[in-house]
Amino acid sequence: MRDTQVYPTRRPRRLRLNKNLRLLTRETSLSPADFIYPLFIRPGKEVKRPISSMPGQYQWSVDKLAAEAETIAGLGIPAVILFGIPGSKDALGSGNYDANGIVPQAIRAIKDATPEMVVISDMCFCEYTDHGHCGIINIPDQDHYNPNLPEGYLLNDPTLDLLGRASAVHAEAGADIIAPSGMIDGMVYGIRVALDAAGFQHVAIMSYAAKYASAFYGPFREAAESPPSFGDRSQYQMDPANRREAIKEVDIDLHEGADILMVKPAMPYLDVLSDVRRMFDLPVSAYQVSGEYAMIQAAAANGWLDLQRSALESLISIKRAGADMIITYFAKDAASWLP
Ligand code: PBG
Repeated sequence: MRDTQVYPTRRPRRLRLNKNLRLLTRETSLSPADFIYPLFIRPGKEVKRPISSMPGQYQWSVDKLAAEAETIAGLGIPAVILFGIPGSKDALGSGNYDANGIVPQAIRAIKDATPEMVVISDMCFCEYTDHGHCGIINIPDQDHYNPNLPEGYLLNDPTLDLLGRASAVHAEAGADIIAPSGMIDGMVYGIRVALDAAGFQHVAIMSYAAKYASAFYGPFREAAESPPSFGDRSQYQMDPANRREAIKEVDIDLHEGADILMVKPAMPYLDVLSDVRRMFDLPVSAYQVSGEYAMIQAAAANGWLDLQRSALESLISIKRAGADMIITYFAKDAASWLP
C-alpha cells in the first residue's frame, strides 16, 4: 500500500465531524415504508389482550382491527401480516380454509377500514392444528397414512393441497399476498397453481424461503398459541448451521414462482440475508422474529439497553445486510421514532 493511502493522509474521521457530514455519507436509511407489522387475531369482541413475552404487542379481536389498521396506516406503514388463532383446532387445521375463519374475517375488516393497506396472510397450519405442526401428520388409520414414513412425520404432498385451498380462501377474502411459512417442499408451486386456478393470478407470494428451526420463535408460540404438542420443527425448518443450503432453498422457491423471498430470523442470519441479496434479483424480506424483539425489550426493561437506539440499530443492520422490507414488531414504534 502506498503511503498516501494511509495515515496521516487518510483520516476517515473527517467525514464524521458533524451531523450533516454524517448524513451525507450515510449508506443506508430506514423509513416506515420499509416495515410490515404483524397482527395476531383471536375470536371474541372488544379483545386487546397483551402478549406477556412481547411487551407492547397484543392479540386483537376482529372488531378492534379497523381502528388499529388506521393507526398503522397513519404511521406510514404500508403492510400488515396476519396470524390467526382459531376458536377450535383439529387434526387437519380446517379453521385455516374456512371462508368465515378468523383470518378471512380480519382481512375483510382491515380492507374495509384501510383499502390501500397491503394485507399479507401468513400461510401455515400450526395455529390451526390440534397437534401444532405445520400440516398433516402421519398417524395410523388416519387419512393419508403412509406406513413407509415414521409416525408423526409431517406429510408433505397432502399438506400442499390444504395450503392451496386455504390460500384461495384468504385471497377471496382480499389478501394481497400469501406468505407460506411452513417450509413444506413445493409450497410455493402448490399455492401458485391453486391461486391461479381460482382466478387469483394477481395475488403475490412472499415465501418464507430460508426459514430456520430457531429458538427465537419462542415468544411467538405464546402469541399465536401454536407450540407443537410433540417433537419440534427440525424435520421441515432449516438447520441453523447451514448457510449454503439457504441458497438452494431460495433458488427452489424462486423457480416455483415466489415474488418475494424471505430470510427468517433476521439478525442472527445476516450472513444469509446478505448472500440472498447478492445472488438473487427479487425483492428480499427479513423477519425480525419474536425472540429478537423480546430480548431487546427485556434488556431495555432492565435498564441494560436503550430501547430506541438498540431497536433502530437492529433494524438498520437488517436493512444494511440487504433487506428491502422488514417484518418487525417494532414497526409502529420505529415509525414514530424516525425523523
Ligand atoms: C408459523 C410461523 C412461525 C413464525 C411465523 N410464522 C412460528 C414457527 O415457525 O414456529 C415465527 C414468528 C416469530 O417468532 O415472530 N409457522
